[in-house]
Amino acid sequence: MSTIQRDGFGSRFGVLVAVAGSAVGLGNLWRFPYMVGNNGGAAFIILYLAFVIVLCLPIMFSEFIIGRRTQSNAFGAIKKLAPRSGWLTIGVISVVASVAIMSFYSVVGGWTLDYIIKSFSPSFLTSDSSSLAGQFSGYTSSSVMPVVTHLLFLAISALIVVAGVKNGIERYSKILMPVLFFLVLLLAIRSLTLDGAGAGVEFLFKPDFSKITGKTALAALGQAFFSLSLGMGCIITYGSYVNKKENLFKISFISAFADTGFAILAGLAVVPAVFAFGISPSEGPSLVFITLPQVFAQLPFGQIISIAFFFILLIAALTSAISLLEVIVAFCTEELKWSRKGAVIATFLLIGFFGSLSSLSQGILADVKVFGKTFFDFFDYTSSNIMLPVGGLLVVLFVGWKMKVSDVYDELTSGATISLKGWIFKSILFIIKYVAPIAILIVLINSLL
Ligand code: PFF
Repeated sequence: MSTIQRDGFGSRFGVLVAVAGSAVGLGNLWRFPYMVGNNGGAAFIILYLAFVIVLCLPIMFSEFIIGRRTQSNAFGAIKKLAPRSGWLTIGVISVVASVAIMSFYSVVGGWTLDYIIKSFSPSFLTSDSSSLAGQFSGYTSSSVMPVVTHLLFLAISALIVVAGVKNGIERYSKILMPVLFFLVLLLAIRSLTLDGAGAGVEFLFKPDFSKITGKTALAALGQAFFSLSLGMGCIITYGSYVNKKENLFKISFISAFADTGFAILAGLAVVPAVFAFGISPSEGPSLVFITLPQVFAQLPFGQIISIAFFFILLIAALTSAISLLEVIVAFCTEELKWSRKGAVIATFLLIGFFGSLSSLSQGILADVKVFGKTFFDFFDYTSSNIMLPVGGLLVVLFVGWKMKVSDVYDELTSGATISLKGWIFKSILFIIKYVAPIAILIVLINSLL
């Protein structure tokens, strides 16, 4: 047994916490609100929901099928099922995308660390958006602090991955994730009852389909994949730790539901407040860090809530970061036969370096561009909008066209212990074979036009 986690997923609850823990993270609470803001509001949300149901669920099933069937890391899984073939691209994308995502994810994880500390200062919470915007840009444009906090966040994630997740993060996630949910619910209620929140609600729920372009559709697709941790072997890797008897449908549905619920709630907590405080919804990555402190300032015990919020956001980010790191570490230990510790150290150094470049993207490296984007935006854009959709496309093609139908059936019914009506299985297979690949292709091609 080369990984500790493989033993760890003994119970259904353990699996759920791990998969939902990977899914729910900065993608829901930080990225979703500003993507909605940047891409026209309600129409983006409707597209997002459609993608979750029609594309993400079949891709999640497919990744679970590959992982549990082979009991291997993403690269090794494909190697077992289709040795020496072009399908190994799926394995390559998984490792490259993990490095790319962590190279900006860890930077934002660092921001949450900084905001926990900031929250202790009584002068931090204010209703003045320009002062909060100034604080945010002052911090992110400095040459030291963003690098330090990024490395700190990465180090914490790495330590957890070395130790294994069972007794650490999983145990705490069980308690902290529900608390996070209630905190975000509280924030959503406060945000919705602010004067002027109505315009934000309209922005979130009144679709203007003329706002949908090829680029918005790709952004919604990338966001859905990113939020559900799909298209890059994460669920293949976690699936390899899942017990043969577990019901893959249930795990997928519950995780997707929890993840989407968190995203919508985060939208409700942030967007109405954005309108009420007169901030631009297209503020970008700083949006949550400027808006939420203003909402905290409007709440009794705001300072305590702020500390709790950023702390739990940190935990949510960590449970996702460890799943990203696990993809790389499982690859290094199983394919390259490195020790777990060696693999974690190498991963730390690699992401430490690339992440430092992104953490300086708002400061001294702001003018250094890769394909016209700062390092931060480059890692974010290429992973979410290119690697994950292409990875997701290859995964459904692989399960639909390359794997044996009997193996797919066996996994979906957990070795015939779950009854699955023939027509349901056929429909799922149809979606995996035709609907999902064609839909992803249409979105990808449209975005180029
Ligand atoms: N789903 C995580 C989030 O929403 O924050 C980010 C993520 C984790 C993306 C794991 C991809 C992944 F494989």
